Amino acid sequence: MHINPDRFLTSLHRLRQFGASGHGKGVVRPAYSDADMAARDWLAGEMRDAGLDVQWDAMGNLFGLAPEPSLLIGSHTDSQPEGGWLDGALGVMAGLEIARAARDAGGPPVSVVSFQDEEGRFGVTTGSAVWSGALSLEAADALTDTAGVSLASARACVAPREVSSIDPRGFKGFLEMHIEQGPVLDDARERLGIVTDIVGIRDLRITFDGQQNHAGTTPMALRRDAAQAMMQFNALLCERFRNVVTPQSVWTMGHIALHPNTPSIIPGRATFSMQWRDGNLDRLEHMERIIRDTAREIGEGGFDVTFGPLLALDPVVMDAGLRGALEAAARETGAAWRAMPSGALHDATNVSRVMPVAMLFVPSIGGISHAFEEDTREDDLVLGLRVLGDAVARLA
Ligand code: GLV
Ligand code: MN
Ligand code: MN
Repeated sequence: MHINPDRFLTSLHRLRQFGASGHGKGVVRPAYSDADMAARDWLAGEMRDAGLDVQWDAMGNLFGLAPEPSLLIGSHTDSQPEGGWLDGALGVMAGLEIARAARDAGGPPVSVVSFQDEEGRFGVTTGSAVWSGALSLEAADALTDTAGVSLASARACVAPREVSSIDPRGFKGFLEMHIEQGPVLDDARERLGIVTDIVGIRDLRITFDGQQNHAGTTPMALRRDAAQAMMQFNALLCERFRNVVTPQSVWTMGHIALHPNTPSIIPGRATFSMQWRDGNLDRLEHMERIIRDTAREIGEGGFDVTFGPLLALDPVVMDAGLRGALEAAARETGAAWRAMPSGALHDATNVSRVMPVAMLFVPSIGGISHAFEEDTREDDLVLGLRVLGDAVARLA
């Protein structure tokens, strides 16, 4: 196979034009937005030009299928509301370039995928969760984004395209190349990471309902201020986590909504996302007990506490055979590499339910991702592409 780095980089930069943010190389391409669907339609054309059979499913997952049982390579092309140009896009464009190179060389067969809503506008890696059977389409449809839009209504935009169901049994394994999105490789001046395992995640929407009232006349002792409840919850939680977590455990309240969110009204309602991640299943569950108990305890101070559905993905280990091919290819380059866990979530977690999976990382400059500044040196992008292509050849 003759990989073409220029063709790959040109495609990657072309994809960046869909939803270009105007801030550096950043993109705004959330799942089912006009920019996301335009990027997918463009990608479908690129897949067709690469000799692949284009198939969509009802979620808007987009596949370019090789004619025979094949490896599947890809990731996602949706972005965070403020996203980088490489998160997901890299893995899809690497798959596309390898499929083109394989076509030019007469094999091996390579299929390509861009999963939908990896970034969790509606959940956590929603598109691959539905495709792999981890989540039913019916349950997914009932999920809502932070603005209250349901997935069912958002995915209606897929409908003008013919949809089908793509059988996972047509694939021999899944390879996902991704930026690291953390500081490890960049700090160590290493150029490649071969993923050992992907951490698990839990995500829970919590609401405190107190009493909306006048911010001037209501004595402090009589208030049921939902924002204060939320802040007390956070302070207590950090204290209670102290003897439970490790330096690899993380938790985030990334979305907060106060009602009515104005200076002269005591907030009657606080709704927030509580997300936590860890490589250890028992610890994830222990953290969940602490979160629920702490919220209920705060509730006893005069608040109604409501928990949304728990979104959960367990930690997964990468397939030894696929990982071995990536390691052999990395070793061959002479570049510095390491085996490492992934602290970010990836579609590979869901896909591991239905076939062997493995992942390859390249460094993120400054460890920055889920931000417009996200970037990676182009020689690292190309090195990763070469390693992925070599691994595909070894596995053929
Ligand atoms: C995926 O984007 C994640 O949040 O890890
Ligand atoms: Mn990603
Ligand atoms: Mn992401």
